[in-house]
Amino acid sequence: MKQIASRPTIFITVPLAPALMAQLDARFDCLHGWELQDELAAGRLWPAVRAVVTTGGAGASRSLLQALPNVELIACVGVGFDAIDLEFARTHGIAVTTTPGVLDNCVADTALALLLAVSRRLVSADRFVRNGDWLRSGFPLAHSLAGKRCGIVGLGNIGRAIARRAEAFDMVLSYHGPRPKADVAYRYYPDLAAMAAEVDVLVLALPGGAASRHAINGKVLDALGAEGVLINIARGSVVDQAALVERLRDGRLGGAGLDVFEDEPRVPDVLLSLDNVVLTPHIASATIETRAAMAQLMLENLLAHFAGLPLLTPLCLD
Ligand code: 8YV
Repeated sequence: MKQIASRPTIFITVPLAPALMAQLDARFDCLHGWELQDELAAGRLWPAVRAVVTTGGAGASRSLLQALPNVELIACVGVGFDAIDLEFARTHGIAVTTTPGVLDNCVADTALALLLAVSRRLVSADRFVRNGDWLRSGFPLAHSLAGKRCGIVGLGNIGRAIARRAEAFDMVLSYHGPRPKADVAYRYYPDLAAMAAEVDVLVLALPGGAASRHAINGKVLDALGAEGVLINIARGSVVDQAALVERLRDGRLGGAGLDVFEDEPRVPDVLLSLDNVVLTPHIASATIETRAAMAQLMLENLLAHFAGLPLLTPLCLD
C-alpha cells in the first residue's frame, strides 16, 4: 500500500471495528462523528475534512455533507448506499465507494440460515430441548426445502449467491427485478405479486432506497399466502412492516426470517412474541472474515483516492 505524504482529515460517522479504527488512526487525522453530533446540529462546518468513512446503515446525509464543504470522497464499509445522499454527491462532484463482491457469500449464507431456521423451526426446537419439553413429547413436524419454489427479488451479486445455495438445496428458482438477465435460466417474473403467488419462499435481495420502499406490500404478502415464507436480508424499508406483522400474527403468512427492520434496532413487540419468525440483528455480513475484507476494500479505496490513483470500487453516479 502507498504511503500518503500528509495526513488528510477524515470524518468517521460511527465507531468501526477496533482494527480498522487503528489503521485509520495510523494514516489520517480522524474526526469521530458520534462525538460531534451537537456541533453538527449547531451548524458547525469542518472545511479540513476530505473524506467521510461510513457504513451502509449510517450513510452520509445531506446535512452532514453540507457541514463538510471540501469533502471529496464517501467511503462506505458496506454495499448498501440507500443512506447516502447520492444526488448531493453527484451534483457536488463527491466520489462514492462501497464494498461489493466481498460480502456476497456471507450475506447469502445468512439468507439460507434464516430459511432453514424458519422452515425447520430450529429456534423453537432448540428451546424445546432446553426447556425439557422433549422428555414429555416429540417436536412437531416442520417443512422441507427440496422441491419448494424460491423466488428471489433482486438478482444482483447477492441474489445470485442465494440462488446458487437454494439450487444446492434442490429448490426451484425464479426471480423478479427491473429486467431479465440474459445469463440465467431461472424463470423471470416482471410482476412481483405474480411471482409471490407462485412461490413458497420469497427472498429479498434488492437495494433499499426511495424506489423500493414498501415494494413488499400487503398485496405481495397476500399473494405469498398462509403457507409462504419471507426472508429479508436486504433493507427493512423494502417491506411494509406493519402489513407483514399483521399477517404473521393472523396466520395469513406462514413465517419470516428477518435480519433487517424498518426502524432498527427497534423491533415491534408483536414480532418478538411470534413463533413463526426468526429474528437476527442485521448480521448478514457480520463475520470476522467478511468484515475484515470489507474494511480492507474500503481502506484501499481511501488510500487510492489520496494517492491520486483510480478508485477500486466506485459507484457510478451518472
Ligand atoms: C452492514 C450492510 O450492516 O453492506 C451493507 O449495506 O447493510 C451491511 O453489510 C454495514 O454496512 C456494516 O458496515
